[in-house]
Amino acid sequence: MMIPYKHEPFTDFSKPENKKAFEEALQLVDGYLGQDYPLVIGGERITTEDKIVSYNPADKKQVIGRVSKASREHAEQAMQAAVKAFESWKKVKPEIRADVLFKAAAIVRRRKHEFSALLVKEAGKPWNEADADTAEGIDFMEYYGRQMLRIKDGLPVESRPGEDNRYGYIPLGVGIVISPWNFAFAIMAGTTVAALVSGNTVLLKPASATPIVAAKFVEVLEEAGLPKGVLNFVPGSGAEVGDYLVDHPKTRFISFTGSRDVGLRIFERASKLNDGQLWLKRVISEMGGKDTIVVDKEANLELAAQSIVKSAFGFSGQKCSACSRAVIVEDVYDQVLNRAIELTKEISVGNPVDNSHYMGPVIDQASFDKIMSYVEIGKEEGRIVAGGTGDSETGYFVQPTIVADVDPEARLMQEEIFGPVVAFAKARDFDHAIEIANNTEYGLTGAVITNNRMNMEKAREDFHVGNLYFNRGCTGAIVGYQPFGGFNMSGTDSKAGGPDYLQLHMQAKTTSEMF
Ligand code: NAD
Ligand code: ALA
Repeated sequence: MMIPYKHEPFTDFSKPENKKAFEEALQLVDGYLGQDYPLVIGGERITTEDKIVSYNPADKKQVIGRVSKASREHAEQAMQAAVKAFESWKKVKPEIRADVLFKAAAIVRRRKHEFSALLVKEAGKPWNEADADTAEGIDFMEYYGRQMLRIKDGLPVESRPGEDNRYGYIPLGVGIVISPWNFAFAIMAGTTVAALVSGNTVLLKPASATPIVAAKFVEVLEEAGLPKGVLNFVPGSGAEVGDYLVDHPKTRFISFTGSRDVGLRIFERASKLNDGQLWLKRVISEMGGKDTIVVDKEANLELAAQSIVKSAFGFSGQKCSACSRAVIVEDVYDQVLNRAIELTKEISVGNPVDNSHYMGPVIDQASFDKIMSYVEIGKEEGRIVAGGTGDSETGYFVQPTIVADVDPEARLMQEEIFGPVVAFAKARDFDHAIEIANNTEYGLTGAVITNNRMNMEKAREDFHVGNLYFNRGCTGAIVGYQPFGGFNMSGTDSKAGGPDYLQLHMQAKTTSEMF
């Protein structure tokens, strides 16, 4: 009897035994830093001369590991392996596919702190953020395994006398899974296992900044019993391997999570029919955000300031869900801004390894440079009232930055920065605040802090985002509780961790028999 799904609890690091266990996990990870990881194609391990080197963003001389880098020839081999493996994997019973996920979840749960410690090192995550990333990955496996069992026999349809109608789902084929570095475990693992449990075979191309945690997960799935060729591991350049696989006529679907520009490129390329292609490719594309917290004048202002600061600066603002715009009704603007400044000035930034800082680094030099260029823009478009400085000497550290009095149409209010920078804008009243909140091309998350029931209902109807939260921050969706995905340029609203996510990886088939 399957126990009901419940999300993985977060670790309380104030307990000495948990702190000690995490320190031991960090030591374990230290013991294997710098190792080489091969491609995995059709179950074969292939080592290439050309490598992707993964560095610690908090200590940029530290090499986390080196993964072999796939060429187009490797991508082609992997595609052939996945096409072949599909013929048998699609016939494997859904129960057996789900068991692979449950076993993999159990393995990761046993090694939970090790995976989180690796995320501390490879992605620069503070302990609590790394712990949440690993927990979310476990949740995806537990949740999607159960979802597959729920829909394995299809959904009910009507039948007339003497007729038997059935409606079920069959897998699509070979899927290309392309994942980002910011939830280097959860999103990489979640998008991979959703495709697998639905009966598809997969080519996984992880983000080049965080390939080691992906390599470790591929080993877990092998240990959990995934047959050879069902999952193929092909780290490589987006432009070379990514484009090749997106264009490939045997690609049946692409599951992408990442930036708006790459998502649009994939969407466009996937729409072209190539020689030998028999289908229209399915594209799941979850992209960026420009997420707003709205504060009403009738609101708990302490909660408002806390929610803005936590959502803006958790994991250095490098979440698609991060608050990068705070829109405050003018009656309470100064109070909320001043309290947010106080809270921000208490934040310490540094190497997350010893858990003594709220914020760690940003991911790499390009990201650091981009964020600092927006800080400069912020000086023109508003007032820097907290932070505004950065240091990339040993790692890529940016101070949490608040830019006050920004015009709703300014670049800082429109463009995704993907770093610890939040712009504050003043609204005349609540209606104006919702108007400003909706004035971006994105539509991923948002939050409203209000005690006014009518305003809450107005926002529920009119605030156009895929994930809307009341009286809390706008980050931290939990698998199975708050299905996650956005509108407009935030993507295809696929709702990861939701009850209809797996169907995006399958096609429905109707059969009808006359008795
Ligand atoms: P990115 O777009 O730079 O890279 C994402 C992935 O795409 C990487 O694996 C990269 O190698 C690959 N890629 C790059 N060029 C490609 C190409 N031409 N063809 C195929 N693949 C290619 O994004 P990132 O910097 O890794 O992640 C940050 C972005 O992801 C932010 O915009 C963030 O908002 C977004 N994000 C969205 C969600 C969501 O659920 N909506 C979740 C996490 C991150
Ligand atoms: N699922 C992540 C969040 O909600 C991105 O913050």
